[in-house]
Amino acid sequence: MEVDLKNIWKRIVAETSNECERDPQISIFLEQHILRFDNFADSLAMLLSVKLGSKHFPPPVLQGLFEDFYHQCPEEVEHAACDLVATQQRDPAAVNYFEIMLFLKGFQALQAYRLAHWFWKNGRKTMAYFMQNRMSEVFAVDIHPAAVIGKGILFDHATSLVIGETAVVEDNVSILHEVTLGGTGKETGDRHPKVRKSVLIGAGAKILGNVEIGEGSKVGAGSVVLDDVPPHYTVVGVPAQIVGKTEVAEPSLDMNQKVVASEVDDDALA
Ligand SMILES: CC(C)(COP(=O)(O)OP(=O)(O)OC[C@H]1O[C@@H](n2cnc3c(N)ncnc32)[C@H](O)[C@@H]1OP(=O)(O)O)[C@@H](O)C(=O)NCCC(=O)NCCS
Repeated sequence: MEVDLKNIWKRIVAETSNECERDPQISIFLEQHILRFDNFADSLAMLLSVKLGSKHFPPPVLQGLFEDFYHQCPEEVEHAACDLVATQQRDPAAVNYFEIMLFLKGFQALQAYRLAHWFWKNGRKTMAYFMQNRMSEVFAVDIHPAAVIGKGILFDHATSLVIGETAVVEDNVSILHEVTLGGTGKETGDRHPKVRKSVLIGAGAKILGNVEIGEGSKVGAGSVVLDDVPPHYTVVGVPAQIVGKTEVAEPSLDMNQKVVASEVDDDALA
């Protein structure tokens, strides 16, 4: 996914200005969080610092950390913009960019994870754990800072989402609330799921162990997945079983949550 940051920011400002005219009572809030900035990164740094600030790290200190992060890693601003666009395109309840930035905690938690992951990669483990803890307290989303997560990700609703230390989530994945990408409790080391590109994971699914969820596959709500899922297949149930091929190459994009019981070839079941 390619994004044009300048155009995205222009659209955010236009949407926000319209809303100020429509409802003047919210205009001070919108002015403070969006309209007084001249770019996406600075506005995002401010609003995340207000969300995640605490007695120990007040918002102005956190704002500085986010600003440093975006300054040193401009690609992370693009990743955040990809997440924003992904959310707008895939979540029918998310119409405007500015509302996603301000109010959708799945998007906000993902950006908090991105800062935590940067601390982790730079050997600042205590700062990374600090961010993980704040994200968990504020958003009820618990992502280990060592987990590797791509761009263009949708965390829809996001409450009770848990992603373990050695998990991988590739680009363009969509994950609903109460999903666990966890260990079985029987393994140590590399013990968490690897979720390949464009996978859709339904609400409440528990994917346990170092299993591979193949590109473009679909996991039904409430499933317990204990084995690899081949690319472009749908699994459902406890424990999860293959029920068919996916209708489209990238189920995460159209969020079609229908379970299709199409022909299953013998290789997939082997
Ligand atoms: C650990 C665990 C995955 C499997 O434990 P196990 O006793 O070694 O079981 P096995 O993997 O040998 O599976 C035995 C059978 O039970 C089934 N099974 C395993 N876990 C299951 C579960 N949670 N729900 C339903 N069936 C399950 C398996 O499919 C298998 O069925 P089969 O014999 O018909 O093939 C399971 O007990 C579990 O869910 N643990 C909790 C892990 C967790 O909460 N992790 C989150 C960390 S954040």
